[in-house]
Amino acid sequence: MPVYKSDCFVNILLTGGMGYIGSHVAVVLLQAGHRVVLYDNLSNSDAGVLVRIEQITGKMPIFIQADIRAAETLADALKQHAVEAVMHFAGLKAVGESAQKPIEYYANNVEGTISLLEAMCKAEIRTLVFSGSAAVYGEPQYLPLDEMHPLSATNPYGRTKLHIEEMLRDLSASNPLWCIVCLRYFNPVGAHESGLIGENPVGIPNNLMPYIARVVAGELKELSVFGNDYPTPDGTGVRDYIHVMDLAEGHAASLPWLAEHPGCYAINLGTGQGYSVLEMVAAFASASGHAVPFQIVPRRTGDVAACYANPGKAGRELGWRARRGLFDMCASTWKFQRCIGLESCTSRAISP
Ligand code: NAD
Ligand code: WQD
Repeated sequence: MPVYKSDCFVNILLTGGMGYIGSHVAVVLLQAGHRVVLYDNLSNSDAGVLVRIEQITGKMPIFIQADIRAAETLADALKQHAVEAVMHFAGLKAVGESAQKPIEYYANNVEGTISLLEAMCKAEIRTLVFSGSAAVYGEPQYLPLDEMHPLSATNPYGRTKLHIEEMLRDLSASNPLWCIVCLRYFNPVGAHESGLIGENPVGIPNNLMPYIARVVAGELKELSVFGNDYPTPDGTGVRDYIHVMDLAEGHAASLPWLAEHPGCYAINLGTGQGYSVLEMVAAFASASGHAVPFQIVPRRTGDVAACYANPGKAGRELGWRARRGLFDMCASTWKFQRCIGLESCTSRAISP
């Protein structure tokens, strides 16, 4: 595994650092020698993650349970821990829910980001890595999607990401000291190789990979494949699935780069390779050794046929590329799924 050294930005605050992506980034940063502060209101995560991060890294991160809209607490955290850079993961992320509760999404994501930016301004911290999303490309007009693709959004969640990106560009234009990168993730999947941390959505998963994992674990009867009449090789939807540990390494790679790049940039984090739903089903069956029962059902409203990245800019600018393949994505997901089914999960890693 490439080793990133913490030769810049020793103290980093991760908003939403107890969540799926933030916890994996915390592991990579701790292993590189950074000191991390996880700032999270636990609205979509649990405190047990902290112990598991310590089990993996041998280091216990600082944890502050609070909302990013709690201005005083946030200001104290930045000052008390001499924070030099912020990675901003905190946000609500369920596309369907965002259409039901748009105000909650704008309040949490947009208002929350304004609160964070105000606190950073006061503390004179001007280095920010933002969790962007391929959702800002809307309906693809061409593939693969590069960063020059026109921006739009097809749902309130995507619009919060777009508004935040626009705010960040305005902020950077107002003061040349800001160093900001919006990392636009494609479809993050997989888990840490220990099986100790991963994605564990509450209730019935919306996303493909956790849904498949629960079907194989016997918790759900079968996968519904949303449509097999798309203009793709096997008729099912194609996406750019990226291993969460590759994503985490992309964040670490952005830090030394940001130190030398004032301004506001957007960079895709994807693999450039699209896989169909049926290819994901076959890969998961092969990695887990269990069949994945499925049935074809009508298309899901709002889905596009295919979406995958041109990851060239990340390679050129950050010197980063995704290295882990589909087998690793599925095998680590399955290992984590078995781990959460075990009571002893928090005290030991399990064998493959
Ligand atoms: P997650 O829900 O697992 O993690 C987000 C964390 O933020 C949670 O621990 C939650 O408790 C916390 N949080 C939410 N609102 C908060 C607030 N107001 N104050 C403090 N903490 C708050 O989600 P994730 O998958 O780890 O996603 C992290 C970021 O990446 C999000 O901004 C998401 O929109 C973005 N993203 C995710 C994906 C994906 O498919 N997972 C894809 C593209 C972008
Ligand atoms: C993947 C493929 C489905 C579930 C979403 C957000 C996006 C980003 C990542 C945050 C599609 C098919 C799925 C199922 C299925 N999040 N599918 N049966 O929709 O590409 O992206 O998560 O920024 O904004 O929209 O991901 O995992 O839901 O779907 O057939 O039960 O799997 O139709 O082709 P999606 P997904």
